[in-house]
Formats: sequence, structure tokens, C-alpha cells
Amino acid sequence: MMLHTVLALAVALATQALAFPAGTLPVPSSVGGAAPTPTRPPSANSGGSRQVPHSSVPPTTGVCAAVAKAVPLHRAYVGGATSAADHFYATSPEEMSKAVSLHGYKLEARAGRVYTWQEAGTIPLYRLFSESASDHYYTTSADERDTATNVYGYEDEGIAAYIYQGQDCGSVPLFMLYSASASDHFYTTSEAEANASGYSMERIIGYILPA
Ligand SMILES: *[C@@H]1O[C@H](CO)[C@@H](O)[C@H](O)[C@H]1NC(C)=O
Repeated sequence: MMLHTVLALAVALATQALAFPAGTLPVPSSVGGAAPTPTRPPSANSGGSRQVPHSSVPPTTGVCAAVAKAVPLHRAYVGGATSAADHFYATSPEEMSKAVSLHGYKLEARAGRVYTWQEAGTIPLYRLFSESASDHYYTTSADERDTATNVYGYEDEGIAAYIYQGQDCGSVPLFMLYSASASDHFYTTSEAEANASGYSMERIIGYILPA
């Protein structure tokens, strides 16, 4: 790996580490003193359909990034009697450790493998967080990101990873699901897990390499 790549990776990881909200556990909006945040997800499709909509056929480039450059996308979850539900995803092991030790998250199976630098055929996966909704929200749509920050009070936490826009290079669909009652976005490549989750299917947001 060349030095500038190493530096870029280090900067990316450091930036992500800072992005995790410092301080207290996220509290449900009903507990906090903040103004109520709309719980409707900032997404075009929240009808609860079990269909997996696709606005258009995603472009495939057929150009593959080096598989060796892909890193695990870690997944953690917090929820239960004492805290609001949240699925959290990050490539930084340090940030994950912090989420576990400071914020009560539990590590789950990795979501898949992604890129921390923009490779051929990949697009940014934006990361947002609403403390009042206790929700990490990820989208590849810049419009959705902007609506989330401007209308729904989410914090823009930068770019979580780069993922394939089309089903290229052995990648698999990454499904986005949402639970209004838990005000929680959930992402998985497993259709069986998606079906069993009780969350509403939103759509495929992109494609990642299998874990
Ligand atoms: C998930 O649900 C959809 C719609 O009911 C169905 O077509 C699909 O086969 C299910 N997938 C799995 C893996 O159970």
C-alpha cells in the first residue's frame, strides 16, 4: 500500500472516529427535552411495501476495485428496555469499540465489505445521526442526506464508506429497512433477515461485497 493511501485511510478513520457523538447515550425523543423530531423517515418510499423498489436499473461499470482494498463494514446494535433502538455501521474498529464500551452497543455479524476510498464504480454512502430519534441513517442519495439534515434534524456525519452503485464485481444488494415505532433504520444484505426483521423494506441503496 502506498504511503498516501495509508495516510488517506488514517485521515478517513480519524474523521469517522470524531464523528461519533461524544457524551451521553442517545435518548428517545420522548425523554429528551429537545423539540420533537419528526419520526417519518426521510425516504422516498416508506409505504411498508415488501416489494424492493428500484427507481431505475442501477448502472454497472464492470470495473472492479481491488478486493484486497475492501474492509469490513462492522455492525452494532443497541436497544431494549433502557435505550432506544439503533443499528450502527462503521469501518473503524476503534469507533466500534467506543460504541460498545461507551454507548452500550453490541457487535453483530459484519454487514459486508466496503471501500474507505472512492474506487472505480463506487459511490459515497453518507452517514447521518439523529440523537433525538436515536437513529443512525445511511443513504447513497445526496438529496436524502440534505432532506435529513434540513428537514428532519439529522447531523451530517460525513461518508461512512464507498459502495458499488450497480451489482458489480461479486457485490450483493444492501437493503435499507425502517421501523417507525423504533425510529430506526436497519441495513442488511440478507433478504431472509430483512423479511424476518419486522421492519419495512425501503429499497436497495447500493451493493457491497459479502462479509
Ligand atoms: C422475502 O419476502 C419476499 C416478499 O414476500 C419474497 O418474495 C422473498 O422470497 C423473501 N425472501 C426470503 C429469503 O425469504
